[in-house]
Amino acid sequence: MNGFSALFSDVWLLDGMRTPFVDYMGAFAALSPTDMGIKAGREALRRAGIEARTIDSVITGNMAQASFDAYMLPRHVGLYAGVPIEVPAINVQRICGTGFELLRQAGDQIERGYASTVLCVGSESMSRNPIAAYTHRTGFKLGAPVEFKDFLWEALDDPAAKVSMIQTAENLAKRFGITREAVDEYAAGSFARAVAAQQDGFLGGEICAVTDEVFELAGYEPRGITLPRKAGEVTADNHIRPSPKEALARLRPVYAGGVQTAGNSSALVDGAAAAVVASGDVARRREGKPLARLAAAAAAGVPPEIMGIGPAPAIRALLQRAGLSLADIGLFEINEAQGAQIIAVERELGLARERLNVNGGAIAIGHPLAATGMRLTLTLARELKRRGLRYGISSACVGGGQGMALLIENTEA
Ligand SMILES: CC(C)(COP(=O)(O)OP(=O)(O)OC[C@H]1O[C@@H](n2cnc3c(N)ncnc32)[C@H](O)[C@@H]1OP(=O)(O)O)[C@@H](O)C(=O)NCCC(=O)NCCS
Repeated sequence: MNGFSALFSDVWLLDGMRTPFVDYMGAFAALSPTDMGIKAGREALRRAGIEARTIDSVITGNMAQASFDAYMLPRHVGLYAGVPIEVPAINVQRICGTGFELLRQAGDQIERGYASTVLCVGSESMSRNPIAAYTHRTGFKLGAPVEFKDFLWEALDDPAAKVSMIQTAENLAKRFGITREAVDEYAAGSFARAVAAQQDGFLGGEICAVTDEVFELAGYEPRGITLPRKAGEVTADNHIRPSPKEALARLRPVYAGGVQTAGNSSALVDGAAAAVVASGDVARRREGKPLARLAAAAAAGVPPEIMGIGPAPAIRALLQRAGLSLADIGLFEINEAQGAQIIAVERELGLARERLNVNGGAIAIGHPLAATGMRLTLTLARELKRRGLRYGISSACVGGGQGMALLIENTEA
C-alpha cells in the first residue's frame, strides 16, 4: 500500500512554549500571526535554554496568511526571535496537521545532518482571516458580480466533496451511529478535563503571558504586540469554561438534525506555539533533560468527505513503522476538530478514553490551525513526563482528507 512515514533515531524535542489560546475576535484579534509567532519563538528559546544565535534553521507554519506582510512570516519570526541573519526560514502547511509537519521536517533536517538545532513555530490568527477577492485586480465590469468572500468560512469548506468541515463530522456521525448525546457527553468531558488542567496549573506550565511588547531588531524596524486597552496581560486560555452536558444539549446544531454545535466543535481561537528541536549532540551538551525524543512520523490520506477519520490510518502507519502496537502507547493527544470526529477515531481504533486527551482538547482549548499540532505534542510530552509513561502519540485530522501522527518517547520512563 502507498504510504508516508519516517523513523528518527536521535532527534530531541528540547522544550517549547505557547501563547494563551484566545477566543475568536477577543484580545488577540488585532495581532499579526507574525508577532504571536515571534513571542512564542522567543519564549520557547528561553524555556529550552538555547541561545537564538545557535539556531541553524527556522520552520514556521501558518495557514491564514492573515497580514499584509504574511509572505515574510517565517523570515520575520526567525529574525525577531533573534536567530542570525544567515539562518534560513521556511513556511510549511498541512492545514490542521501543520504543527506536526513542522516537527517532522525539523526531524528530517536534523537526521539528515542539514541542521543541528531548529526553531519550529506554528502561529494562527483565525480572527484575521481576510475577507478576500481574487479576481478584481483588473477592475469591476458593469453588471458583473463583485465577489468578496469570508476566507475563514470558505476555508472550512471542501469544494471537491461539497462539504463543510462540520458536515464531514456529520458524515462520520452517521457512519458510526454517533448520537448528539454522545457528542455532548464527550465535549463536556473535554471541558471538565481542561478546567481541571487549568486549575491545577498544568496548562499554565506551557503558556507564556502576553502583554504589550516591542520586538527590537538592530538596524531594522521594531515591531510588536499591542493589546486592546482593557485586555491588560493575557495569561490563560479563555475558551475553557465549565460546560456540563445539560448546558451543551441546549445549543442549536450547526445543521438542522445534526449532532455538531458550537459547544461540541473545536473553538475558533488565536494563538501560537513554538519548540526547539535538536540533534542528540546538542541535547546531550545542553544542561537539563529534553522533553522527549521525536521517534517517528506518519501521514495518510482518507476520503475528503470523512476527513476526520484521518488519525486512524495515520496512527496505524506510525505504529507499523515504529514496530509498536496500540497497547505500547501510554497517552494519545488527538485533535478534537469536532466531537463526532474524535469519537469516530476513538471507536475505529478502540482507544480507551482515559488515555485520550487527558487535559482536554480543542473543543475546550481551541484549534488555531497551524499551532495545534505543536500544542498537542508539547502537552503530550509534558504529561508523559508527569505520569512517567514512555510512548505517546499526537495526531490530527486534516481538511481535504488526511491524518498526521507523531510518536514521541519519554526516555526517562
Ligand atoms: C461550530 C462553529 C460554526 C460555531 O461558530 P459560532 O456560531 O461563531 O460560535 P459562537 O462562539 O458564536 O457560539 C454560538 C453560541 O454557542 C454558545 N456556546 C459556545 N460554546 C459554548 C459552551 N461551551 N457552553 C455554552 N454555550 C456555548 C455561545 O455562547 C453562543 O451563544 P449565543 O449565540 O447565545 O451568543 C465554529 O466554531 C466552527 O466552525 N468550529 C469548528 C471549526 C473546525 O471545524 N475546525 C477544524 C477544521 S478541520
